[in-house]
Amino acid sequence: MKTIHLFANWKMYLGYDESNILANALIGEVRKMPPAINIALFPSALSLYSIALNLKETDIAVGAQNAYWLDKGGYTGEVSVGMFKEVGCRYVLIGHSERRHVFHETNLEVRKKVEAAFAEKIMPVVCVGETKEERNAGKTEEVVEVQLRAAFEDLNLPSDTRFIIAYEPVWAIGTGDACDPKEAERIHKEIAKITKSLLSDVNFSILYGGSVRAENVADYLAGSHTDGVLIGNASAKLDTFKGIMDKAAQFAAK
Ligand code: PGA
Repeated sequence: MKTIHLFANWKMYLGYDESNILANALIGEVRKMPPAINIALFPSALSLYSIALNLKETDIAVGAQNAYWLDKGGYTGEVSVGMFKEVGCRYVLIGHSERRHVFHETNLEVRKKVEAAFAEKIMPVVCVGETKEERNAGKTEEVVEVQLRAAFEDLNLPSDTRFIIAYEPVWAIGTGDACDPKEAERIHKEIAKITKSLLSDVNFSILYGGSVRAENVADYLAGSHTDGVLIGNASAKLDTFKGIMDKAAQFAAK
């Protein structure tokens, strides 16, 4: 059975108390999950430290939603990859569509963050995906390839390197308009092909993200190039996240 990643991107949905209460409530739920399921929470930077401390003895991992590539210095408002690692982060999201499209993060910045994550040995979760206009113009594969090349081309990585790519079509994020699972799987296959051509001897997993719910999660997990999901809205409430976890557990038990 492949490992199934259920990654919860809490964005800026939850305050400090709300984040800690939800993380606490998840401890008992995650204990009931089969070992094939790997759960990671991506709380706000503010809540992350206390959650990481609280979850230290559990199987729930913690990740950062974003990080700066330089280590230390006069960069007001930023938190470095190394600083997140120091407080217990195992993962860092890089190039999430909201970073790219709301905060105008470029492919070059994504690349610098990817390099910083590999240098710090914190696992990057590199997000790629096309806008509605790009999709309508038939450019999905082209856009994804440009993003993957920018992130990974010519990197010199040790052969035991592991990382994660999340395919998140921009138009499917936070809209309820989820990508057809067969279409997502087709793009995942393409992502795997491109990534293997850019980097040999590395180990990567591919997640789908964009309006994942309990009703559709099993359809994504069924794809042979799909290793899990990145969940936004539905991961920020106990009942909806639990619904997804239960469906994933049922899928894993098949
Ligand atoms: P969503 O967000 O599940 O609310 O669509 C997914 C994401 O942005 O990672």
